[in-house]
Amino acid sequence: MSAQFPIRRITAPQIRARKGGEPIVSLTSYHAHTAAIVDKYADFILVGDSLGMVMHGMDSTIGVPLDLMIMHGRAVVRGTKRALVVVDMPFGTYEESPHMAFRNAAKIMKETACGAVKLEGGARMAETIRFLSERGIPVMAHIGLTPQSVNTMGGFKVQGRDEAAWQVHIDDAIAVSEAGAFALVVEGVVEELANRVTAAVEIPTIGIGASKHCDGQILVLEDMLGLNPRVPKFVKVYGDLGPAIERAVADYASEVKDRDFPGEDQVYR
Ligand code: KIV
Repeated sequence: MSAQFPIRRITAPQIRARKGGEPIVSLTSYHAHTAAIVDKYADFILVGDSLGMVMHGMDSTIGVPLDLMIMHGRAVVRGTKRALVVVDMPFGTYEESPHMAFRNAAKIMKETACGAVKLEGGARMAETIRFLSERGIPVMAHIGLTPQSVNTMGGFKVQGRDEAAWQVHIDDAIAVSEAGAFALVVEGVVEELANRVTAAVEIPTIGIGASKHCDGQILVLEDMLGLNPRVPKFVKVYGDLGPAIERAVADYASEVKDRDFPGEDQVYR
C-alpha cells in the first residue's frame, strides 16, 4: 500500500531559488474558479490590488480596502492547491511604519492562508521588508511603475525613459533584495533598465511590461484573456473572452425573448 502525500504548494524560498533558471510563470487571479485553472500552469498567483480596477470599476488602486483583498485572497486560496498565492497589500495599509505593515500583513496571512504578501516601493520600503521577513512574512517587492503612486507619478507612466533616472531604480532593487524580499515585480520600465535591474539583484525579477530580461513574467489575467477593453499596449492578448461573453449573453437574451427556456425535465448535458 502506498502512502498518499498531499500536493505541496510552491513556497516563497522555492520561487527565490529560481533566479536565473527556468522562467517563472505568473498571472493575477481574483476568484476561486479562474484561480483553479491558473493553478495548473502558474508558479505563483497574485491576488493583485488591480482587482479594484478590473473587477470593481475603480479608476485606480488607491481606494481598494484591506477587507476586499482578504475576501478575494481567501477565494483564490480555496480554489488552488499548487501555486504560491501572493496577496497585495493595498494603499495605506503598510507605508506608515513597519509595525503597521506587520499587523496588516499578518491579518492577510491569517485570514487568507496565502503564502506571501506584495507591497510597492523600493529603498523607502526596505526597513519594512526586513521587519516583515524577519518575522515570518515572505515579501514580494514591486518597483518601476508602481500604480499606488499614480498621483505622485502623474499617471501610469513607463519608467526609465530618461537614462539619468536608471540608478534610482537599480538602487531600489538592490535595497529591497538586501532587505530580504524573495522576488521583485518590475513594472513598466524600458528594456535596458529591466536588464540592469535583473543583473543587479540576487532575487528573481518578475516583469510586467519590462521585457524578456526578467526572470519571469506576470500579466493581469483579464487583460490577456481579452476581457479588458483598455488593455495596456505591452500585453499580448491570448483569448477573446469579451466578445465570446457578449455573443453568449446576446444568444441567451434572444432565446428568452422567444420563450425558449427550459422546464426542469429538459436536460442539456
Ligand atoms: O495589482 C496587480 O495586479 C499587480 C500586477 C500588475 C503586478 O501589482
